[in-house]
Amino acid sequence: MTKAKPLIAGNWKMNGLRAEAVALAEAAAAAAAASDACEVAVFPPFTALDAVAGVLAGSPVALGGQDCHEAEAGAYTSCISAAMLADLGCRYVILGHSERRHGRRETSETVYDKARAAFRAGLIPIVCVGETRAQRIRGLGDDAVVDQVFGSVPYAEGPMMLAYEPVWAIGTGKAATVEDIARMHDILGGVLDALERDCEGSPILYGGSVSPDNAADILAADGVSGLLIGGASLDAQAFGEIIRAAG
Ligand code: PGA
Repeated sequence: MTKAKPLIAGNWKMNGLRAEAVALAEAAAAAAAASDACEVAVFPPFTALDAVAGVLAGSPVALGGQDCHEAEAGAYTSCISAAMLADLGCRYVILGHSERRHGRRETSETVYDKARAAFRAGLIPIVCVGETRAQRIRGLGDDAVVDQVFGSVPYAEGPMMLAYEPVWAIGTGKAATVEDIARMHDILGGVLDALERDCEGSPILYGGSVSPDNAADILAADGVSGLLIGGASLDAQAFGEIIRAAG
């Protein structure tokens, strides 16, 4: 069966002043223009979104935010609404990344509310889930991930995506094995079906130490619809190689 075009998504996290972000975006746009085998999106820090939007205008690369607030507007010092992201030209927003769930104690309930806000603003939420090393060692990994999906994914009022990102694989250089990824994506696909929230068949990305060396193998795994890339997306050459690996 032919797969839909995978999404190659670069999450730059809290990296890059505007000049660096512009240079990275230019490189991503050039690599994406040379390959029509995948969709490409970049997720700069909020401060660089406007500058990067200017670079990406007319390019095939989509823009996304790394988070949003669950409210439409109001007295929420420092926060960014989904509508503000849409206003800057974003198509996607990453929600529930482990650096928010575990780093900032964000709950699945909050992620659920943020995903609803994203739909209201016409954004495509990319809801991240993943087990910690401790949960995995104790055999609780599958349950932890399934619980996160049940708690974080609202009724889909538009297209959405899930990202399976085992916490122990993020930024460690130790990606999950292709077998583990295919197994978990199979479980997650089943959960999306069982949810009855109109999200069955939503694309499921993998993230966690994706590199030019493992990207093609992971993309070929059953149930993998794309990659969410942290560290390697900050290296223009490596990100370009991953885009080419998707071909
Ligand atoms: P990594 O990060 O590619 O640096 O492991 C992935 C992520 O956090 O999305």
